[in-house]
Amino acid sequence: MADTHQDPLQRPLPDGIVPAAEVARTEKRWLVLMVAMLSVMMAVVVVTGATNAIHPPSNVETIDPTTLHLGGEFVESNLGTAREPDGSLTARLVAVQYAFVPGCVKLAVDTPVKFRLTSTDTVHGFLLPGTNVNTMVIPGYVAQVHTRFTRTGDLLMPCHEFCGLGHSQMYARVRVVPQSEFRPDAQGRANCGP
Ligand code: CUA
Repeated sequence: MADTHQDPLQRPLPDGIVPAAEVARTEKRWLVLMVAMLSVMMAVVVVTGATNAIHPPSNVETIDPTTLHLGGEFVESNLGTAREPDGSLTARLVAVQYAFVPGCVKLAVDTPVKFRLTSTDTVHGFLLPGTNVNTMVIPGYVAQVHTRFTRTGDLLMPCHEFCGLGHSQMYARVRVVPQSEFRPDAQGRANCGP
């Protein structure tokens, strides 16, 4: 008996299964699974973003890593904590193999804080345990993270991107002090001091 179907996928197999129908059924099943997985991942992003201020990196700002020490925002005299006119704080740091400059940043509790970081050499990481601060520091780019500390005390900030032999020794500190102990100088600057 001659087969009536030109397309082999439409031709029933000996057990009666039509391949085309079977393919359509399994494709639909995988499609539903994929949409479900994507929905769960999107929900995780939205929920952590809304409840813990954990956001995917979004600040795209470039800087020339070979000249940033010569002028502009990241010259040595401009690093550390500065008070903005609106009362918020900006902490600027440069990551180099194998240190953060400055090695300690003083900030006030219950105050909006903006970290701005860049690197002169290779990719470093910047992490403050127990907070939403966790970013890569990439040469050529400025990393910016917003946070607000709810507790006082010293936080260790380790470099968490492997950056060379000294990676494990690369860390700095954030000193969060009560607002009454945060006394910036006339220029609005504060540092950890002795
Ligand atoms: Cu810098 Cu690891």
